[in-house]
Amino acid sequence: MKQILITGGSGLVGTRLSEILTEKGYAVRHLSRTVNGNEKYLTFRWDLADKFIDPKAFEGIHIIIHLAGTNVSSGRWTDAKKKEILSSRIDTMHLLQEKLQNQKLEAFISASGISYYGTETTEKTFKETDPAGTDFIAQVSVKWEAACDVFKTNTDRIIALRTGIVLSREGGALAKLKQPIKMGIGSPLGSGKQYMPWIHLEDLCLMYVAAIENTAIKGIYNAVSDQHINNAGMTKVIADVLNKKLWAPAVPAFVLKLLFGEMANIILKGSRIDNEKIKAAGFQFKYPQLKPALEDLL
Ligand SMILES: NC(=O)c1ccc[n+]([C@@H]2O[C@H](COP(=O)([O-])OP(=O)(O)OC[C@H]3O[C@@H](n4cnc5c(N)ncnc54)[C@H](OP(=O)(O)O)[C@@H]3O)[C@@H](O)[C@H]2O)c1
Repeated sequence: MKQILITGGSGLVGTRLSEILTEKGYAVRHLSRTVNGNEKYLTFRWDLADKFIDPKAFEGIHIIIHLAGTNVSSGRWTDAKKKEILSSRIDTMHLLQEKLQNQKLEAFISASGISYYGTETTEKTFKETDPAGTDFIAQVSVKWEAACDVFKTNTDRIIALRTGIVLSREGGALAKLKQPIKMGIGSPLGSGKQYMPWIHLEDLCLMYVAAIENTAIKGIYNAVSDQHINNAGMTKVIADVLNKKLWAPAVPAFVLKLLFGEMANIILKGSRIDNEKIKAAGFQFKYPQLKPALEDLL
């Protein structure tokens, strides 16, 4: 039985991924900042500030999946928040490798973000080979992916999934997007023209499974579905699926900037992202189009 250690396994992606992996016969264990004994999965504690990882976490593991990271879209990016966004993703990887030492792994798989390409609204469709953006959140993904290389001594299979907006039944972006629409006050955000590269949670988790099982998968992959849709388009599809009318005027960009400062950029800007590379590796999306994805989730 393959042992998979997941950092941040208690989160939105980790919870569903752990269920799927367990159903497929993998042994799942989590690395978490808190352990209370009631966890569904074997859970070990780590503490970045104390540079501590329970050494038992590493016994017999084959693969590490790194999902840990503080939420980027909750609140303003103060200096302290920016530091935490970076350290919870990157310093944690350095700590992991430091404690893992030379133990061999079949693969190290990490989350990354499509914000790698920069938060701009353009007509370009970004591929994995395109250069990174220069803004803060783009540079988070650059540093996140660069830090994966510390595992080169442990495995020759290092994978990062540049993830789009994960659509899920509970929590995440969809919960925030659907709330005003359900209340009858939904409307596009800003110009509404910003693209919103998205992926159904199920497809993302199955992509992690593909990364485990298909040894030809190595390096960077965009994790977004086929259909390119902008914010106005997505808002309309959510309203249609919920059988709600949209009548309110768009939320002006300046209001979101006042509320969220620099963080508003990830809401107000966005370009199209290409997914041919993962499809060429044999991955088939269950939900390539938005409407069936939302009909499943809402
Ligand atoms: N969801 C999305 O739309 C999306 C899009 C693009 C990229 N991603 C990336 O994919 C990964 C997983 O996403 P997710 O939605 O599952 O995230 P999530 O629900 O926010 O969960 C991530 C987990 O990270 C751990 N964590 C939180 N703050 C931390 C900190 N300061 N230091 C160390 N660990 C911390 C928590 O686990 P414990 O409390 O158990 O320690 C938490 O359950 C994240 O890195 C995220 O940035 C997600």
